[in-house]
Amino acid sequence: MKLEEVKNELEKDLKSVKSLNDLDELRIKYLSKKGLITELNAEIKNIANDAKKEFGQKVNELRNSFTTFFEEEKKRLDEEMLNKKLEGEAIDISLPSTKVISGAPNMLEELVEQVEEVFMSMGYDVVDGPEIELDKYNFEMLNIPKGHPARDAQDTFYIEGEEILLRSQTSPVQVRTMLEGKGEKPIRMICPGKTYRRDDDDATHSHQFMQIEGLLVDKDISLSDLKGTLDLLFKKLFGEDTETRFHPSYYQFTEPSVEVDITCHKCKGEGCNICKNSGWITVVGAGIVHPNVLRMSGYDPNVWSGFAFGFGADRLTMLKYDINDCRAIYNTDLRESKAFDRKEAE
Ligand code: DAH
Repeated sequence: MKLEEVKNELEKDLKSVKSLNDLDELRIKYLSKKGLITELNAEIKNIANDAKKEFGQKVNELRNSFTTFFEEEKKRLDEEMLNKKLEGEAIDISLPSTKVISGAPNMLEELVEQVEEVFMSMGYDVVDGPEIELDKYNFEMLNIPKGHPARDAQDTFYIEGEEILLRSQTSPVQVRTMLEGKGEKPIRMICPGKTYRRDDDDATHSHQFMQIEGLLVDKDISLSDLKGTLDLLFKKLFGEDTETRFHPSYYQFTEPSVEVDITCHKCKGEGCNICKNSGWITVVGAGIVHPNVLRMSGYDPNVWSGFAFGFGADRLTMLKYDINDCRAIYNTDLRESKAFDRKEAE
C-alpha cells in the first residue's frame, strides 16, 4: 500500500476508535510485524536514493502521530472505564438508611443487678442454688416440719413424692450456705433466683417469680443491722429520700420477724393508688435468724447470730417502673417492651 493510502486509511480508522479493544486492533493493523506502517518502513530500501530521506521522514511522522494518538487515546479510554466503574459503585448518601432497632436491658435483670451491686459493695457474695430442691432444705431445716400449717401458704410443686420439689422460696439457699460454712465462717450472701408456686397466672400472680434472699451470720447481729442494710438498699433503688420502717410479722425461720415497708416512691408518702393511700408499701420479709435454724445448719446460736430477708424481685420491678401486669416483665414482644425502653425515654 502506498504511503498516501496508508495515511488516509489511518485517518479514517482513528475516527472510528471507541474502545480499548478497537485501539488494540489498530495497533496490530499498523504496527505489528505485518502492520501497514511496519511494511512502509520495509519499503524504504526500494525507494530511489534521492527520495529515501523524505519517504523515511514521512513514515516516521506517520508512526509518531499514531503512537501519540495511541497513548493519548489509551489514557482517555482507561479513565473513562474507571469513571464508569466508580459511578456504578457510588453510595447515594441521600437514601434513607435501614433502621437498627436497639434493645433495652430487661427491667428485672437490671433491678437484680442493682441489688447485687449494692450488696457486693458491702462485701456480700452473690450465690446460686438449685431450683429443684429437697423438702429438707426448702422447709424442714428452715424450722417448718412436715405437716406444719406454714407450708400451706406456699402452694408447692412436688416433683417426686414428698421429698423433691420446685423450691417455693430462695430461703433453702440460706441452709445450703450455712452447711458450707460448717459453723465456723461468718456469712454474707444474697441469692437472686427463680421460685415456683402453684398459682393461676394473672396480672399480679405467676407460677414462677424471682426472689432475692439475703443472709448475714456473724457475732452480735441485731435488728438495727438489718434496718441499716435494707435502708441503704432502698435508698439506692428508689432514691435518697426513701425511708424504711419495720412492722412485726411471723416467719418460722426468723425470731423476731418483721415486714419492711418503704415510703411510696410515687407519692413520696402523701398517699396514692399504688400505696393505697397509706404512703407506705410492704416490700420485704425479714428477721433475726431463728436459733433452731442456726443450730440445724451447724451454727451455735450461743456464739453466732444473724439476720435474713427475702423479697420478690418482680414485685419490686413493677413498683419501680410502674408496671401493672407482671407478665409484661417476661414479654418478648419488642413493641411492648419498647414502652419500657428507659434509654429512649431519657
Ligand atoms: N421466704 C419468705 C417468703 O417466700 C420470705 C422471707 C421472709 C425470707 C423472711 C427470709 C426471711 O429470709 O427472713 O415469703
